[in-house]
Amino acid sequence: MNNFEYVNPTKIIFGKDTIQQVAQEIPSNAKVLLLYGGGSIKKNGIYNQVKTALIAIEVLEFGGIPPNPEYSVLMKALKVIKEENITFLLAVGGGSVIDGTKFLSSAALFEGDTPWNILKDGIRTNKGMPFGTVLTLPATGSEMNSGAVITNAETKEKLGMGGPGLFPTFSILDPQVVASIPKRQLANGITDAFTHVLEQYMTYPIGAKLQDRFSESILQTLIEIAPKVLDDPTDHEATSNFMWSCTMALNGLIQKGVPTDWAIHGIGHELTALFGIDHARTLAIIAPSHYKFNFETKKEKLAQYGKRVWNITEGNTEDIAHAAIEKTEAFFNGLGIETKLSEYTPDYNGTAEKIAERFTTRGWLGIGEHKSLTPDNVEKIVKMAY
Ligand code: NZQ
Ligand code: ZN
Repeated sequence: MNNFEYVNPTKIIFGKDTIQQVAQEIPSNAKVLLLYGGGSIKKNGIYNQVKTALIAIEVLEFGGIPPNPEYSVLMKALKVIKEENITFLLAVGGGSVIDGTKFLSSAALFEGDTPWNILKDGIRTNKGMPFGTVLTLPATGSEMNSGAVITNAETKEKLGMGGPGLFPTFSILDPQVVASIPKRQLANGITDAFTHVLEQYMTYPIGAKLQDRFSESILQTLIEIAPKVLDDPTDHEATSNFMWSCTMALNGLIQKGVPTDWAIHGIGHELTALFGIDHARTLAIIAPSHYKFNFETKKEKLAQYGKRVWNITEGNTEDIAHAAIEKTEAFFNGLGIETKLSEYTPDYNGTAEKIAERFTTRGWLGIGEHKSLTPDNVEKIVKMAY
């Protein structure tokens, strides 16, 4: 096991009817900006619950943060924050609203002229404006981590940011919010969380037995609850396990002391930036090819996963590792998620070269757990995913 440090300051308030506790977590003299997305919270009653709870606090609102939170929209929210002297941000939404809020938390205290530089230059955020979240969509884990991914429609870029200043001070996780989530987003959430675990697990053995078993248990739980959540999103047992699994998949715990990969996300973000494909779906497109391309360096963990998570017993290490890749792809397909780029766009020719070129320009010359995947390798992986 590698050395590590672990801090996670986010307070989690989990369970049925917990949204009403939101006011207790915000300083009573705060001037709050409530941030939300396209309006789903107004249809499913979450907005009313939050507003009722915040009756005694001064609250302004900013709606319209789109999926894959867009820089130009967020800049309008930043203007409101500055003009109105906002002191606390409250994200009510999924990963996009929460990530957008993290950007604003950082940008509100940023001293440079162009907040896009936080992303372009990889500036870490050590201190941000305090913010909390009411999670409406289990998927990204953003509610309990310090990272965010922001899109710039003008330059067709999607870049990450983060830092210790960007943990939410609290996050409210009421699994009842799952009831109104469309099937497509439920499938996305399961796929995203599943791949988060894979990115932190499917590397090489390092003797971190507990972390491996944490990861395997999240994967097994997601496999078990997936059909139940899709069949009945009001099933409290299934949705609460779904929600907590998504949070645990990316709150930092399972990555401590182990190598991590994140190449699938790195490549996947380009597919969202270029074609607008849902985040989770880009991961399902890239993961099978990535594991096939890197089979030699990943086969031991692939086989361990095959045995422990999919109960594959027949064959040698290689056979089980291959079967595990097939099981993974079949799992995504079973959720209604296609795993080839050509199933999402007819304009896929040239994509691999374009992504490789972007990685070269940005100086991303070696990614993955060994920092050894070159832009050339990335090009091959994307071509395998056509
Ligand atoms: O915009 P509204 O009206 O709220 O509708 C949203 C949106 O259309 C809808 N939705 C959310 N909760 C709902 C609901 N509809 C009905 N009932 C509810 N309770 O779902 C749609 C998708 O929402 P979005 O927030 O975009 O989805 P998700 O949570 O999957 O977030 C995706 C974004 O997070 C980033 C992704 O790249 C993407 O931009 N990620 C963030 C990470 C992080 N911060 O740690 C890690 C991830 O790997 C990921 O990159
Ligand atoms: Zn993800």
